[in-house]
Amino acid sequence: MRAFIVDRYGKSGNTLRAGDVPEPEVGEHDVLVQIHAAGVNALDAKIRDGEFKLVLPYRPPFVLGNDVAGVVIRIGAGVRKFKPGDEVYARPDKDRIGTFAELISVNEDDLALKPKRLTMEEAAAVPLVGLTAWQALVEIAGLRKGQKVFIHAGAGGVGTFAIQLAKHLGATVATTTSAANVDLVKRLGADVVIDYRKDDFETVLHDYDVVLNSLDNETLKKSLRVLKPGGKLISISGPPDPAFAGEIGKPWILRPITRVLSHRIRKAARRRQVSYSFLFMRASGKQLSEITSLIDAAIITPVLDRIFPFESTNEAMAYVQTGRARGKVVVKVK
Ligand SMILES: NC(=O)c1ccc[n+]([C@@H]2O[C@H](COP(=O)([O-])OP(=O)(O)OC[C@H]3O[C@@H](n4cnc5c(N)ncnc54)[C@H](OP(=O)(O)O)[C@@H]3O)[C@@H](O)[C@H]2O)c1
Repeated sequence: MRAFIVDRYGKSGNTLRAGDVPEPEVGEHDVLVQIHAAGVNALDAKIRDGEFKLVLPYRPPFVLGNDVAGVVIRIGAGVRKFKPGDEVYARPDKDRIGTFAELISVNEDDLALKPKRLTMEEAAAVPLVGLTAWQALVEIAGLRKGQKVFIHAGAGGVGTFAIQLAKHLGATVATTTSAANVDLVKRLGADVVIDYRKDDFETVLHDYDVVLNSLDNETLKKSLRVLKPGGKLISISGPPDPAFAGEIGKPWILRPITRVLSHRIRKAARRRQVSYSFLFMRASGKQLSEITSLIDAAIITPVLDRIFPFESTNEAMAYVQTGRARGKVVVKVK
């Protein structure tokens, strides 16, 4: 089958090779999906460039891609939840990526039925960012009606989804964006919109319950100051904390490193009586099914910026890397 392959880890500017690879094997609890569309994430370029080698030690050559929407064409003997012909979507498990291809074999626990309301391209835009927003706002933050949440970078893949989810949970939502995307984030439900090129969020926002950070370290530190005591600072852009070392199954190697990396922010958080957690999202078909329900009820609608043809997967990745995408970028495979 055709696929986009990482031949070796390299510096930024490295591109994927389009080539032929063997069809994936289908284990007892696996579902073979014919890929119709694959979402592109900032994570893809980071993996390609070797930034995640310690945490996700894929051995080149390997097929890249972390989001899929497609049709079930075969199932393993133990699969109970899906059958050939089902339209599905997923963020496959981190150890079984490879959606920039014609086929992928996914464990049935990581898969969900695709929202009926969406096209394949729209569905492929959802899993990784949708699960990230869900795990940050529902699982870690336990966001409730009446609380205030500040979501950085509201116009991005994670931001456009997280704003809609936070509104559904009944929170007041503040976000940052450039002037060009103010209308977009307002349409998604943001109550307070800060143009980060003009205004400093720290002077506008006070006594927030939750901050979802996806930007740099300086922004993370400043974010502490908009929280009220007891508030929660959740970061998806680092630094990783010691709990993450355990979650990823490498406590002995990563715990000492993550302890050092996150020492400052954890100490600063304690001083302000707020908590700090790093989130590295994980695959979950169960949570994705809940997201399917919200999408089919028209509570959440993915925001698509551009759809690239499969042959232009490298161009799609380069576009995401500009950091200017409005919502999601997707590759149409079939
Ligand atoms: N740990 C995890 O599990 C996890 C999961 C998902 C994503 N992430 C990480 O989270 C980050 C965001 O992911 P994403 O998919 O949302 O990225 P993205 O879609 O590529 O983000 C692009 C958006 O960021 C906005 N932006 C850029 N600089 C900004 C700034 N200084 N202030 C406010 N907005 C800014 C841009 O809006 P304007 O053009 O208006 O500036 C653009 O719409 C990435 O680093 C990604 O790797 C981590």
